[in-house]
Amino acid sequence: MFSNRTGLIFNMALMMLLSFALMSCTPENPQSTFDAQGPISEIQKNLFLFTFWIAVIVFIVVEGAIIFVTFKYRRKNDDLPAQIHGNLKLEITWTIIPAIIIVIISVPTVFGIWETQVMPDEEDAIIIDAVGHQWWFEFKYPLEEIVTANELHLPEDKNVIVNIESQDVLHSFWIPKIAGKVDMVPNHENKLWFRADNPGIYYGQCAEFCGIVHAMMRFRVIVHTEEDYQRWIEEMRTPPKSVSSGSDEDEGRKLFVGNCSMCHTNDSYKKAAYHKEINSQYNRWEEWKKDKENSAIVSAPNLTHFGNRLTLGAGIKENNYENLVKWIENPDSIKIGTRMKNHASIYNADIKLTDQEIQQIAKYLLSLKPENETTATYNKE
Ligand code: CUA
Repeated sequence: MFSNRTGLIFNMALMMLLSFALMSCTPENPQSTFDAQGPISEIQKNLFLFTFWIAVIVFIVVEGAIIFVTFKYRRKNDDLPAQIHGNLKLEITWTIIPAIIIVIISVPTVFGIWETQVMPDEEDAIIIDAVGHQWWFEFKYPLEEIVTANELHLPEDKNVIVNIESQDVLHSFWIPKIAGKVDMVPNHENKLWFRADNPGIYYGQCAEFCGIVHAMMRFRVIVHTEEDYQRWIEEMRTPPKSVSSGSDEDEGRKLFVGNCSMCHTNDSYKKAAYHKEINSQYNRWEEWKKDKENSAIVSAPNLTHFGNRLTLGAGIKENNYENLVKWIENPDSIKIGTRMKNHASIYNADIKLTDQEIQQIAKYLLSLKPENETTATYNKE
């Protein structure tokens, strides 16, 4: 009976270990830190592996000694064995060995801290202001005067300096394959630098518990070639293709202006729109803070060229018509607890939108992209 149970516990522990290993260590996983795609994550990975293998050696030596001693010196008769309490040699040995191990680990650690914490030259870097919100990411490009949300566009092989902040509670900025984690703290700016080696789409994730949908606070990093990155910047300064009057998109535009535009800006392609958006976002936040229960306004993601976004709900669902209709209809069905659901007046019982109106808004939002799509546009639908 007892051995059966021990066997069961052993098997369960083994299965748990195996599944943890499979979940966390597969480089194909979009959030695997074992597939480093930049120098910062490379340093972090190497430091982890170095420490891990030292820990494995310590584990084998210590457990081996315990097993050896258990069998070699197990009780054979009733004689009291030789007592070694206070053995000076042993005490010194097992104090010195860990101290040496710590020194060995500290050398690459200190070098790693130095390499990751000393900021590169600002002159030759992309500067990003990343702001955490419950539960989405705002990205600002102060030099290019571009503002966007939940999708960070960057060129390959270029140093990026991120000024990290939060507007509400603690969040954390983390791109598992490229860099992080660094806490996003209200009223305090943290800095992080990194470089992405290869073009592609990478997952970002908030890594600090920040409320009910912390796990669904994600973003995407879209790393372009240098030319595509320049095209993306151009796109962000180009107006979207115009909608023909009387079309569903046009009706959707009117509904958007009437119901959504107090919180969501969607025209930041305009000249001088950048500073206007920063002020608006600040004012929305102040408005919400004054009356957290009843405010109809709250800071919200910028939706400029939303039709080009890959995801909606901060990296949660693919951005397509079906998902977008579901999202506008009832954000809780995708991501429970959003401030949109709690504060926007269209979710009051008396001001509800009809199905047709919701579909028109979705069509309008998906039409928000520049007339001529370029290679910088990943969403080719
Ligand atoms: Cu934001 Cu967790």
